[in-house]
Amino acid sequence: MEKRKPKKIVFRVTPWIFLLVLPLLYIDFLYGNIGHFDQWVQYISSSETTPNIRKVLIKETVEEKYKPLSSLLSNLVKEEDREKLELTGFACNRDVYSIHCIANGPLQIDTKTMTVTIPSSNHPMQETVIKPYARQEDDTLLKTVTPVKISSQNITTPQICEYKHEIPAVIFSSSGFVGNVFHEMNEIIIPLFITTRHFKSRVQFVLEDYNPSFVRKYRNALSLLTEHKIIDPVSNQSVHCFPGAVIGLKFHNHLSVNSTDIPIGLSMSDFRQFLRQSFNLKFRHVSQIKRPRLMLLSRRTTRRILNEEEMIPMMEELGFEVIVVARAKLVSDIKMFSSLINSCSVFVGAHGAGLTNELFLPDGAVMVQVDLIGLEWAAETYYGHPARAMGVHYLRYKIEPEESSLLKVFGRRDHVAITDPKGAFPVQAGKEVYLNGQNVRINVERFRETMVEAMSLVQDSGL
Ligand SMILES: *[C@@H]1O[C@H](CO)[C@@H](O)[C@H](O)[C@H]1NC(C)=O
Ligand SMILES: *[C@@H]1O[C@H](CO)[C@@H](O)[C@H](O)[C@H]1NC(C)=O
Ligand SMILES: *[C@@H]1O[C@H](CO)[C@@H](O)[C@H](O)[C@H]1NC(C)=O
Repeated sequence: MEKRKPKKIVFRVTPWIFLLVLPLLYIDFLYGNIGHFDQWVQYISSSETTPNIRKVLIKETVEEKYKPLSSLLSNLVKEEDREKLELTGFACNRDVYSIHCIANGPLQIDTKTMTVTIPSSNHPMQETVIKPYARQEDDTLLKTVTPVKISSQNITTPQICEYKHEIPAVIFSSSGFVGNVFHEMNEIIIPLFITTRHFKSRVQFVLEDYNPSFVRKYRNALSLLTEHKIIDPVSNQSVHCFPGAVIGLKFHNHLSVNSTDIPIGLSMSDFRQFLRQSFNLKFRHVSQIKRPRLMLLSRRTTRRILNEEEMIPMMEELGFEVIVVARAKLVSDIKMFSSLINSCSVFVGAHGAGLTNELFLPDGAVMVQVDLIGLEWAAETYYGHPARAMGVHYLRYKIEPEESSLLKVFGRRDHVAITDPKGAFPVQAGKEVYLNGQNVRINVERFRETMVEAMSLVQDSGL
């Protein structure tokens, strides 16, 4: 039998692909070192229910180019709060992860103090303070979000408007984990799509905690949602008048769009179409890709796959053109990376924010997640369930204890840290062990079965 020479080279790709990938090696398309402590926290609190979502569908009955503003706004509140909104001109919906308030009438926003004043003569003064970011359960993060004071007052002499707008304001924040593609998509871009798509670009964004790199990175997506220049309250301290406002963004679920809970019934598939348009992506369906191409996302610090170079020949032997993309240190280039991912039929990676890029896969492509010990809930919640819901096949490669570096750490298979990750540690310690302290050495023979399945899904995709 011929023996394969041990290979040192990790990259066995056709030269032009290599040229394409090379710059990526220097680009941090993944996320900063903050990592995913949130996943661990939520893993622990996994019994928490998903947001309380209203039950009644909204159907667009009138086909008009522009619906009246009041109906566009009231479509964003829960059925049971519509009456209140009509009566008082103001209503808020609070869910587990998000809060958003609607003001359905003329108002002023003083961007210097981030105060929204709603003049009103028929009810007593009310004041509400909210932090407009879709991660209400995270007190640490909320500390970095500038509060918005909303006060409804019996004003006789209103403030003078320095700028008078004819379209509603949408106030949200880009504080938080900007730089981390999971959080950017999950807490800002998708909620923004849900909240504002039905305004047909006729909205004025007021972006608190304005992060220029975020705005630059998503400029193409943002400009499909608004035709107006985004206001940065810090550099534009004025009193603006609006005919209505949305403060905070509506959120459905992690990387999800629920079409029955969005004003004009848009779905995840519409959101993915929106992404393809924003980033100018070529492939809508995996069958458009001629030769099955597989991307292996290589993590470099935590949750590393230690024997990637053993996996690649096996993948190639099955007929995949393999691209290995390593996490890099610099700024992300979402434009380049999204189009690279979009040209792949299969996407393989260990649990982590980089898997958010599954959003860019064509329909019918395959997402393969290497599911590590102690991270099952997070793996399913953040990437598994969303993948299936967006029309991407999802394959889970659940590792055996023998494949985890933790087996060495704890010595035996029946150690509680291996058998009961949920119960073994307090939250912070658990995060250190399972998220930051675990690498994996894949059993290539066993992984091959998952790859065979991935290949057959791709080939059955209806060429
Ligand atoms: C979507 O929203 C509807 C209506 O609010 C709700 O009944 C349903 O459970 C939601 N679906 C998912 C998958 O969350
Ligand atoms: C609002 O102010 C006007 C004038 O000061 C007063 O007549 C009216 O009673 C006030 N309304 C409420 C609800 O306080
Ligand atoms: C402030 O916002 C208004 C309204 O959008 C705009 O016309 C004006 O140019 C902005 N000023 C600055 C300094 O950006």
